[in-house]
Amino acid sequence: MIEHEPIQYDVLVIGAGGAGLRAAIEARAMGASVGLVCKSLLGKAHTVMAEGGVAAALSNVDDRDNWEVHFADTMRGGQYLNNCRMAELHAKEAPARVRELEAWGAVFDRSPDGRILQRNFGGHAYPRLAHVGDRTGLEMIRTLQDYAVHQEIDVHMECAVIELLTDGERVVGAFAFDRDRGTFKVFRTKAVVLATGGIGKAYRITSNSWEYTGDGHALAYRAGAALIDMEFVQFHPTGMVWPPSVAGILVTEGVRGEGGVLRNSLGERFMFSDIPPAYRNQTADNEEEGWRYTQGDKDARRPPELLTRDHVARCIVREVKEGRGSPHGGVFLDIAWIKERLPNAAEHIKRKLPSMYHQFKELADIDITEEPMEVGPTTHYVMGGVRVEADSQMTDVPGLFAAGECAAGLHGANRLGGNSLSDLLVFGKRAGEYAARFAQENSAREISRDHTARVARTALEPFDRSVDTDGAENPFEIQQDLQKMMQDQVGIVRNEHDIQAAVEGIGRLRERAERVAVSGNREYNPGWHTALDLQNLLAYSEAIARSALARKESRGAHTRLDYPDKDEKLGKLSVVIRKNSDGDLEVSWEPIPDIPEGLQRIIDARK
Ligand code: FUM
Repeated sequence: MIEHEPIQYDVLVIGAGGAGLRAAIEARAMGASVGLVCKSLLGKAHTVMAEGGVAAALSNVDDRDNWEVHFADTMRGGQYLNNCRMAELHAKEAPARVRELEAWGAVFDRSPDGRILQRNFGGHAYPRLAHVGDRTGLEMIRTLQDYAVHQEIDVHMECAVIELLTDGERVVGAFAFDRDRGTFKVFRTKAVVLATGGIGKAYRITSNSWEYTGDGHALAYRAGAALIDMEFVQFHPTGMVWPPSVAGILVTEGVRGEGGVLRNSLGERFMFSDIPPAYRNQTADNEEEGWRYTQGDKDARRPPELLTRDHVARCIVREVKEGRGSPHGGVFLDIAWIKERLPNAAEHIKRKLPSMYHQFKELADIDITEEPMEVGPTTHYVMGGVRVEADSQMTDVPGLFAAGECAAGLHGANRLGGNSLSDLLVFGKRAGEYAARFAQENSAREISRDHTARVARTALEPFDRSVDTDGAENPFEIQQDLQKMMQDQVGIVRNEHDIQAAVEGIGRLRERAERVAVSGNREYNPGWHTALDLQNLLAYSEAIARSALARKESRGAHTRLDYPDKDEKLGKLSVVIRKNSDGDLEVSWEPIPDIPEGLQRIIDARK
């Protein structure tokens, strides 16, 4: 019998970024007892990497904005693979969620008449992003955290869940370990909300930090839930490329929202040379008009730097590949040029983009008020994730809910910037509410001791193997090999041969992972932590690669060189990943939900 601490809640929330905090707050407000599990320290979450703003049709800066326009923009950005009900709820409820956050103490930048200020972002028709300089996600986490700690929510920091416990019918709990002490915790619970964020750590270049090993995706998959849209991984166009130690760190889209432009080594604004048909009538065809748009001229069209992320990332890759890149393999992002137009430009840049100013000054010795930055795509977000029912956020497994980045549906084939922060507020709240309702209507069930004993034994296996034995594998080396493979073979542009090689490579890595050995003891042992993370990294990487292999077309963030066009038939289908009864990963296709007539009319009116 392996010792563990038994703990009981009505609702367990796994993940304490924006979605997890918002879910925990709501479940508690409904009267549920709530445990909040946090893989690292409370407040350290990828939410802070959504820097430039939260998208909500407040219409404070442009009164033409409303939920319908936001809805239509989100659907177009997602290339109509979105779950339209989620897109509708999101667009309708985001303004209330932002105002609520303000009432809880979030200090947004203000317009001259004292309202929440909004800025331009890619794919949004009007200035829609409520922001706090370039620290919006940070301010949101701070606010949610300050609010949550007064709501009698138990927080388990440095705690990682390694298995969801089910009884064949529904979720009954979760098995976790305390990263500091190496001890086990078994949570008995009526409902679970997954809010574990993304998958960036399967890639070499990423804006994600070490926690983002797709835990929620893999936990849900192993518990029997379906994953959808896993082929759609978002490469944010602008991450740092130099120096190598900081490659991948995010450079907010807010830079382009404030007038920053992209140039190649010839000094050309290369984004003007490739404007997708769906955006042609909204996009400026000259520099002057693009500049006027960023300055609030309502008659001007947006600059091509504010096209959707999938497109901008591909254009950057093209420039680099064709030999017009910057010295360190990126392109130039220039905000300093606005000196030509604005008095006090340097002060303006420091006020609007304070983190970017310090980030480049301290990490790259670049003064962005004087010189251009070097930037290139970085793995930032996954549109795919656990399939949920739109209103309740419940997965295919009764009692199991998911919200935020680890849930799928809202963003379709490509997410618009700023929609992640509004997503986590809208659907974090909904997941918390419906999880609490589920807990009210269902009693706690018994947890199988055999099951917990099995999970504990498997978790400790890496200690049973000696690191000196022939064939013993190092967990860090396996993760590094995976990152290189995913970056090179299932990256921004893909083809059958590479993806197939990755699928086979993941199989070999899985065999190696079975021989992983770690030394030392269970207290704060990073080798052991990585050995446990590998199970998740490999599971969802296979889901990404197999989905990418299945989708033989190019759409949104999924670009196949061997299938460069869209396939109309596939535009109505999602790739679904499930674990079959033999425990193997199975790929199938399912239709995306139909768009009701009323919503279709809104889309058509904005085409
Ligand atoms: O560029 C950014 O500030 C990121 C925003 C987002 O991913 O939503």
